[in-house]
Amino acid sequence: MARPRVLSGIQPTADSFHLGNFLGAVRQWIGMQETHDAFYFIADLHAITVHPAPAELRRRTRVSAAQLFAAGLDPERSTLFVQSQIREHSELAWVLICNTGMGEAARMTQFKDKSAKFGESSAGVGLFTYPILQAADILMYQADQVPVGADQKQHLELTRDLAQRFNSRYGPTFTVPSPYIPKEVEKIADLQDPLAKMSKSSSSPQGILEVLEEPRVLTKKIMRAVTDTGTEVVADPENKPGVTNLLRIQSALSGTPVAELEARYVGQGYGALKKDVAEVVVDAFAPIRERTEKLLSDEAELDRLLAVGARRAAAVARETMEAVRDRVGFLPVPSRPESDV
Ligand code: TYM
Repeated sequence: MARPRVLSGIQPTADSFHLGNFLGAVRQWIGMQETHDAFYFIADLHAITVHPAPAELRRRTRVSAAQLFAAGLDPERSTLFVQSQIREHSELAWVLICNTGMGEAARMTQFKDKSAKFGESSAGVGLFTYPILQAADILMYQADQVPVGADQKQHLELTRDLAQRFNSRYGPTFTVPSPYIPKEVEKIADLQDPLAKMSKSSSSPQGILEVLEEPRVLTKKIMRAVTDTGTEVVADPENKPGVTNLLRIQSALSGTPVAELEARYVGQGYGALKKDVAEVVVDAFAPIRERTEKLLSDEAELDRLLAVGARRAAAVARETMEAVRDRVGFLPVPSRPESDV
């Protein structure tokens, strides 16, 4: 039987991924390449909604790819590609935009948060249509499962609605995907503000643990993490969000259940917990950092791996778009003299 298909994406909007990306998404991606037909991509079309400098975007796109390979993504088993290299994403996004209601798009909370930051009227239309492009990414590959953090849940619901609507309006075309959001790591919190998610756009770098950061910086940030009143090391999301976050991080990285960790720290203070968390984080990140540097030193090889991914992705995208074009009533595209990528 064919393996189920998994697809997910990550934006190249920072110089390094952070622990939230790593635990909430990247680790699942790597695990699922063993059991699924895996497609992963770097969402550079999404990244331009906030206008990065072109040279920075190019650099961060390669750094993102290098980190994914360094973290264990295997180019033989997974297809990793850069979103903008597959032109069909933008094309399908337009078709889906024409099947989305204004109210439906306006309800997206990420858009509401981001537009509030820019000021309602100066937020770009790209931010507004962002979730619809995300739906196009997913539906293009007929994905069964989409591993993401909790912040993407609403975008996945929109994707399912759009798939169902298109299928009933134009005939069965898209697989309706399911989100894959493991509860324990769905929202890794900011170390300085444990009620907020760890985020690239967080106001303080002290709250974020970056995969490519130096071990001593990681350790310092963890030792200074905001904890809660009291001294007991127990998971209690309401009253002890800081300690709960550290316990979840340690549990996810060490494979030890939270209850077992709670028992281990009876009679010890927060300091002992932080020391151990620092150790597991550094152990997880240091080898990725080393391998990322190595991969970045051979840009040609990195680009070659991405070109292999782009070719595999393009074959699927072309097939889906041909069906979509036919269903909505477009004439077939005449062949072009230059080879189409
Ligand atoms: P992005 O680049 O913001 O984040 C990449 C992945 O990391 C997860 N994540 C977290 N998980 C747990 N705790 C956190 N603190 C945390 N912060 C981030 C995100 O949920 C995400 O899974 N819109 C997407 C990119 C995208 C995409 C797609 C994803 C574009 N098209 C299609 C899936 C399918 C985004 O901005 O992710």
